[in-house]
Amino acid sequence: MTAPLKNTDPVTVEVALGERAYDIVIGRGVLASLGARVAALRPGARAAIVTDEYVATHWLRKTEASLLDAGIATSRIVVDEGEVSKSWEGIEYVCEQLIAAKVERNDLVIALGGGVVGDLAGFAAAILRRGVDFVQVPTSLLAQVDSSVGGKTGINSPQGKNLVGAFHQPLLVVADTAVLDTLSQRQFRAGYAEVAKYGVLGDEAFFAWLEVNHADILAGGAAREHAIATSCRAKAAIVMRDERENGERALLNLGHTFGHALEAATGFSDRLYHGEGVAIGMVLAAEFSAELGMIAEADAARVKRHLAAAGLPTRLQDIAGFSQERIGADALMELMAQDKKVRRGRLTFILLKALGQAVIVPEVEPLRVREFLARKLAGA
Ligand code: GLY
Repeated sequence: MTAPLKNTDPVTVEVALGERAYDIVIGRGVLASLGARVAALRPGARAAIVTDEYVATHWLRKTEASLLDAGIATSRIVVDEGEVSKSWEGIEYVCEQLIAAKVERNDLVIALGGGVVGDLAGFAAAILRRGVDFVQVPTSLLAQVDSSVGGKTGINSPQGKNLVGAFHQPLLVVADTAVLDTLSQRQFRAGYAEVAKYGVLGDEAFFAWLEVNHADILAGGAAREHAIATSCRAKAAIVMRDERENGERALLNLGHTFGHALEAATGFSDRLYHGEGVAIGMVLAAEFSAELGMIAEADAARVKRHLAAAGLPTRLQDIAGFSQERIGADALMELMAQDKKVRRGRLTFILLKALGQAVIVPEVEPLRVREFLARKLAGA
């Protein structure tokens, strides 16, 4: 099935968090309704749009037009594209620009971009004048299904990813699926890893649906919207039960402990997009689960097969230049030790007890992980 690329009725997913509740509005063309939605939520507010250079060329005018049509005065802050902006320098720049633009407590920050812009603008909103509201307008698949939902905001430290940040829920998320048409295939696929993650961690039936429909999701249309809405519903359900990651929310980190270490090992560069790291990390988590006897090897192979079919890297050796660098298991263990999921030196892993059922496994024996990684590095 290849659904036609036309505007369809938007789907709304509610993140029911009491006084911090908000809607995620998903649909082709919904960016045009941003201004009216914002005006209805915060009459009289002005909006400072934070975006990056790439997104600005495609979507800034349309975003500004929607806000201006609704009578909302706008200002714009454009940051460099990429992870480099999610830094101390980046947050200083955005905060100073917001102050210079005279953004007050009753005004709004609009995060127009992918995960980097959402995390950065959201963190700026969390700390500016001790907190102003913000709206997420995610423009990558990864941001639409993961990072724009749930209120995690922050920046990287030179010592590790996302080590400085705050929980700050958005006021609204507007996910226009048409903006995904300007993503490269590689970026889209990287985001798809996070879609597949929801199936692997909690919904075997969704995973099976993805196995059949992944090509249609890439092509756009109704399958894409269904995949995004299902992912957002899955994330919202978990966030509603565990907003601050005291327990269950950690399941969303499936593939991330290995993935973050690989991102760090490749210098957070274009050699490995975040979603690609998650894809490899998810396969490693599934294979490690099989090694511990938690799932059948056939289930781990099924995860790997699907991600490979979707065009994602699934092995350490798939990372450009990785084999030549001779990164050892000890170096990867060291990088994993910086993960937020470490407690007094013991690693907590998200592993699988079935395909579609992830579990938090604290106190994983580091030696066991090290041996597993050594075998994977050797090509096992
Ligand atoms: N990306 C994982 C979370 O939001 O908890």
